[in-house]
Amino acid sequence: PRIIYITHDEQRFEIEAANGASVMETAVRAAVPGIEAECGGACSCATCHVHVDPAFAEIVGEAGPMEADMLDFAWEPGPTSRLSCQLKVSDELDGLVVRIPERQG
Ligand code: FES
Repeated sequence: PRIIYITHDEQRFEIEAANGASVMETAVRAAVPGIEAECGGACSCATCHVHVDPAFAEIVGEAGPMEADMLDFAWEPGPTSRLSCQLKVSDELDGLVVRIPERQG
């Protein structure tokens, strides 16, 4: 599946992701800028924050309670904010667009 990352300055990265990897891992592996992922995917740093494109919000679903708590620490969270380490790539997410905020944490 292909995941599309758009940075705050409108750079677009289309990355072929592996099923089962997280959206965060996929970005880090491909050196997409703007996702820091300080905790390495443990849902405890909020520096892998992304805004899910509204067209995919329903497919992706809402953050679980632990993730929602962490999102309070993210920089300017919005209605479709998620922690990308908690988004697992699957065929369903093919074409997913996520926007990376200007800052993390
Ligand atoms: Fe730390 Fe996602 S990598 S919360």
